Amino acid sequence: MKIAIDGPAAAGKTTLGKKLAQTLGFLFVPTGAMYRAAALAAHRGFRLEEIDITVTEAGKILLNGEDVTALLSSPELDELSSVLSADSQVRERLVALQRKIAEGRDVVMEGRDIGTVVLPGAELKIFLWATLEERAKRRQREQGGNFEEILEAIRRRDERDSTRACSPLKPAPDAVFLDTTNKTPEEVLEEVLKMVEERRARMGS
Ligand code: C5P
Repeated sequence: MKIAIDGPAAAGKTTLGKKLAQTLGFLFVPTGAMYRAAALAAHRGFRLEEIDITVTEAGKILLNGEDVTALLSSPELDELSSVLSADSQVRERLVALQRKIAEGRDVVMEGRDIGTVVLPGAELKIFLWATLEERAKRRQREQGGNFEEILEAIRRRDERDSTRACSPLKPAPDAVFLDTTNKTPEEVLEEVLKMVEERRARMGS
């Protein structure tokens, strides 16, 4: 079974995806982290053809074999990855890597274009959403910093992700829209696990 989770920045995709994959025993693939690793590689002067990015069972991101997981969460890479991900050649390369990772196995994959482009045949597609203010609040709780600046940075990324020509952020027509603004991570997980059970029952019948 393949599960696609898409949505805007800081909507809780990684929190949900990790727990969901853990509960189901699936591989978790955070494609945002792959774009961040690509941005790190570009920053280090690598050319696109030289970049190989993989995701391990333990949730590590490897850039050409080096574990870069701990280097990927910074405001600089938030911005750089968002800019780089509008490049169609970068997307083509990362989409190919993502499809290869998911081939022939159960996965929970999160990103912006998973249900629309990377895994259009996914059995369950979730579009995870929360208001901009709520997402900025959550990001500030996780990472600290100035609320207004965080809000503005997320707003800028939302705008860029949704308006780019190549694979813009948008719900797949068959995605379930899930508003998490007033829900705890546990409530969201429970709701999605119910959807998984429903899909499984339908697939088995
Ligand atoms: O989700 P995260 O914030 O880690 O993603 C970093 C950046 O990578 C996003 O701002 C977005 O522009 C880009 N991205 C993308 N397509 C994906 C995942 C992430 O364009 N499937």
